[in-house]
Amino acid sequence: MPLVSMRQLLDEAARGGYGVGAFNVNNMEQIQAIMEAARETKSPVIVQASRGARSYSQDRFLYHLMLAATELYPEIPTVLHLDHGNSVDTCKSAIAMGFTSVMMDGSLMPDGKTPSTFEYNVSATREVVELAHAKGVTVEGEIGCLGGIEDGHGAGLDGLSHLTDPDQAVEFVKQTGLDALAIAIGTSHGAYKFTKKPTGETLKMGRLIEIHKKLPGTHLVMHGSSSVPKELQDIINQYGGKLKPTWGVPVEEIQLGIKNGVRKINVDTDNRLAITGAIRKVFFEKPEEFDPRSYMKPAREAMKKVVALRMTQFGQAGHISDYSPIPLEEMARRYQGNGNPAAA
Ligand code: 13P
Repeated sequence: MPLVSMRQLLDEAARGGYGVGAFNVNNMEQIQAIMEAARETKSPVIVQASRGARSYSQDRFLYHLMLAATELYPEIPTVLHLDHGNSVDTCKSAIAMGFTSVMMDGSLMPDGKTPSTFEYNVSATREVVELAHAKGVTVEGEIGCLGGIEDGHGAGLDGLSHLTDPDQAVEFVKQTGLDALAIAIGTSHGAYKFTKKPTGETLKMGRLIEIHKKLPGTHLVMHGSSSVPKELQDIINQYGGKLKPTWGVPVEEIQLGIKNGVRKINVDTDNRLAITGAIRKVFFEKPEEFDPRSYMKPAREAMKKVVALRMTQFGQAGHISDYSPIPLEEMARRYQGNGNPAAA
């Protein structure tokens, strides 16, 4: 089947009460790892690419790899999502290339670093909603700012500096008409999120629940949601790496989020750790090897394992064929009709 709408995937997830992992990719092996994990667990898929990934893969390589994924895994509903679009133009170019979902991150200015104003965020996000929905493409927006920097994108703040204000979130959803809302509740991108296991002081699940109560019909998105498992850190360090001790977002907190409106969970770092650990292990144990496949295969397998585990933990496993995908043209028609494609 062709790439599908993220809105429909999230509507179905809301109906079924589960979450869907959104996994970042830059190359073929990562895409293969996700598709294999999805086939094994019978999961719908969100693959996402940041601006950094698009430039690394010269954009079209990535797009054609995704087309290959839809050909080779025709039974899997698969979304191609732009992660952290920094401007209306970036979102436009992603839509033109065939992304079926885009994030307009207007919480930061187009430099991808400076926190913006509410007015700027509304106006940029609304513009993207108008042009994306006309093509049936889904839009994620963000209110509040995450901590950290990822692929050169991020305010570089700690996760608590720009938490989402629940009333502002309500106003933002109303004024933009977006499909999914990313919120800031104390997480950050990258491996160094927390210096110890997070508590209610550092990871504000209470804030998330408050937002969900005010916006029960809005699909919430948790960014910076890698769990940074100690086992993966240990493998890297055992084979010559130098990661400092660190903590991520515990899976049980994500599961609490899923009970409270979280439908999309962004994971990148855990897969990066799994890949790097597997490659380091081969380099350490078999220094005579020089065929890239000797380390890329275990790397792909290590990522597949992490993704399959998250798909099961988030609850998307087994939901591969609960529904027939709605073509984007039909989604566009439904957005035009009443703004709510789920109710059409
Ligand atoms: P992690 O760094 O926690 O994997 O977060 C990824 C992310 O939020 C991508 O937008």
